[in-house]
Amino acid sequence: MLTPEQLADYNERGFLVLEGFAGHDACDQLRNRAEEMVQEFDPAEVVSIFSTREQNRLTDDYFMHSGDKIRFFFEENAFLADGQLRFEKEKSINKIGHALHDLDPVFDNFSRSQNVRDVAAAIGFANPLLVQSMYIFKQPNIGGEVACHQDSTFIYTEPTEIAGLWFALEDATVENGCLWAIPGGHRRGLKSRWLHSPADRMEFQVFDNEPWPEEELVPVEVSKGSLILLHGLLPHRSLENRSDRSRHAYTLHLIPAEANYPLDNWLQRPATMPFRTF
Ligand code: FE2
Repeated sequence: MLTPEQLADYNERGFLVLEGFAGHDACDQLRNRAEEMVQEFDPAEVVSIFSTREQNRLTDDYFMHSGDKIRFFFEENAFLADGQLRFEKEKSINKIGHALHDLDPVFDNFSRSQNVRDVAAAIGFANPLLVQSMYIFKQPNIGGEVACHQDSTFIYTEPTEIAGLWFALEDATVENGCLWAIPGGHRRGLKSRWLHSPADRMEFQVFDNEPWPEEELVPVEVSKGSLILLHGLLPHRSLENRSDRSRHAYTLHLIPAEANYPLDNWLQRPATMPFRTF
């Protein structure tokens, strides 16, 4: 699945782009399924506005208890002062998470397809656990920024070897809010953990206060169907989408089956619905 050069590149830079990984049909299947889900979803159920800023998430039960569910999260500025949606719901949703891969047959099939298994095995994840999936909309004009972060902050394991798979379901460019990454930044260590405190709140634990050298971020523009493999320690971000084109993506996070997954990670599964492999 990967050449030795590609593998070396992944290890050296902490990310790797595989253009044309998924067919356009497969991308469209996920897009259509997500669209159906949004149509069926009643926004009145939502008790939370998704925000990329930690302080807004701290008291967010809706988020904390979404690890075994399919839940819908709105853009931060999706609501007017009176609580009504500014735009139609289809244009206001930031993402769907976090157990699409276990609960929805379309996402399950895609996430556990042979190609995905093969590429995971190629980077050392032969029998990983699939812990988290997200469908990210990055809506035209209002798609919010995701500040520079490491995925291991949110999905902490010992050792800290996890992998993120970022599938471009549409072309992702600087204009519509593609990923940016710091090549080699995965060797700088883990800066923080976002954990579930004993008081049942979300809490940041900071190991290193040094800001990210954002001048080292490079845009990772990819075409529809591309896969970006991301090391869990790689610093990356995406900017706002100010264009009139959406930038849909699907992401999946894998951990080694033998890694320690602490009970204070925010994402937990009940005993009846454990993490599963491919
Ligand atoms: Fe991320």
